[in-house]
Amino acid sequence: MAVTPITALLGKVTSGKPARASKTRGRLIPRKVKFDWSDTPVDWIPGHPFASHFINEINLLLPAGEFWFCRLYNQALPMVTDDKLRDDVQMFIRQEAMHARAHGGAVADYLNKRGIETESNTRQEDWLFENLLGDKLAGRELKSDWAKKQWLVFRLGIIAAVEHMTCVLGQYALDNKNWDAVGADPVLLDLLRWHGAEEVEHRCVAFDLYRHLGGTYPSRYYLSLIAMPVIFGLWAHGAAHLMKQDPRFAAKRPSVFRPWVWLEWQRQSKTGMLPSLPALLVRQLPFFSPWYDPAKEGSTEEALAYLEGSPAAAAAMMADRSAA
Ligand SMILES: [Fe+2]
Ligand SMILES: [Fe+2]
Repeated sequence: MAVTPITALLGKVTSGKPARASKTRGRLIPRKVKFDWSDTPVDWIPGHPFASHFINEINLLLPAGEFWFCRLYNQALPMVTDDKLRDDVQMFIRQEAMHARAHGGAVADYLNKRGIETESNTRQEDWLFENLLGDKLAGRELKSDWAKKQWLVFRLGIIAAVEHMTCVLGQYALDNKNWDAVGADPVLLDLLRWHGAEEVEHRCVAFDLYRHLGGTYPSRYYLSLIAMPVIFGLWAHGAAHLMKQDPRFAAKRPSVFRPWVWLEWQRQSKTGMLPSLPALLVRQLPFFSPWYDPAKEGSTEEALAYLEGSPAAAAAMMADRSAA
C-alpha cells in the first residue's frame, strides 16, 4: 500500500489540497550581464565616501557566498522531486553564478585597478565558505547519507535566511532614489539594481527548497540568529578594510571590533544613502512568522520593470535573442 508523506497530509489539512512546492511565478531568467568600470570612481556616491565604501564592500563579500550557494544547490538538485521547483533551483544557480561573476569583475576591474587591496579580505571569505561551511563538519568527513543530508539541509536553511535579507536589500536598492538625486555612478547603480531585482525575482526559491527537503519551522529562529550576525559582521569588517586604505578615515582606525564603524553606519543611514542596521533587523522579523511567505516580501512587478530598462540586463537579453 502506498504511504502518503506526512507533509502532503499536513498540506491537505491546512489548505484542502497539497501545498505547492514552488511559489515562484513564471520562469526565472538568467541574464548574462557585462559592466564597463572604466569611468566609475571609488566615491561612486558623490560626497558620501563612507556609504561608497560600505556598498563597494559587497563586491568583496558576495562572490564567495554566492558560489557557495551554487555548490550546495547543485548537491540538493537530485533530491528535488517537483519539476517546477527543480527548474527554479537550476535557474537560481545560473542567476547567482552570474551575480558572483559580476561582483568579482567589479573587484578586479574597478577596485583593484584603483589601487585598492581586496585579497586579504576575500581570502577570509573563501575560508569561511569553503571550510567552516564546507561539506566537512568541524573538519570531519561525514560518513552516513543521513548526516550528510542533515548538514546540507541546515546550510540550505542558512541560505533561506540570507535570501530573505537579500530580497529586502534588493527591494531597498530598487526603491532608493536618494542615490540618483545626488548623481551616483550609473554603472554601479545598475549593478546594484540588476542584482537586487533578480534577488526579488527569485526570492521564493531558497525557502521553497529548504521546506521541500524537510526544513522545519523552529529552525528558522536559530538559522536567523546565526546568519544575521555573520552577514552584518562580514559587511562591516570588509567595509572597514576598504576604509582603512583611505587616508580620509585613517584617524578613525576603522575596524569591525571598534564602535566607530557601527555608529557611523547609523549616522550615515540618516542621509538616505544606506539602510540602517536596526531597520534591516526589523525587516528580518517576518521570517520568524509561522505564516511567512517570501512572495509577500518584495514586488516582482517592480523588479521585472527595472530589468526591462536596466542597461546591462537589456543588453544581455538583446545578445541572447540575436544568438538564438
Ligand atoms: Fe545574488
Ligand atoms: Fe539570491
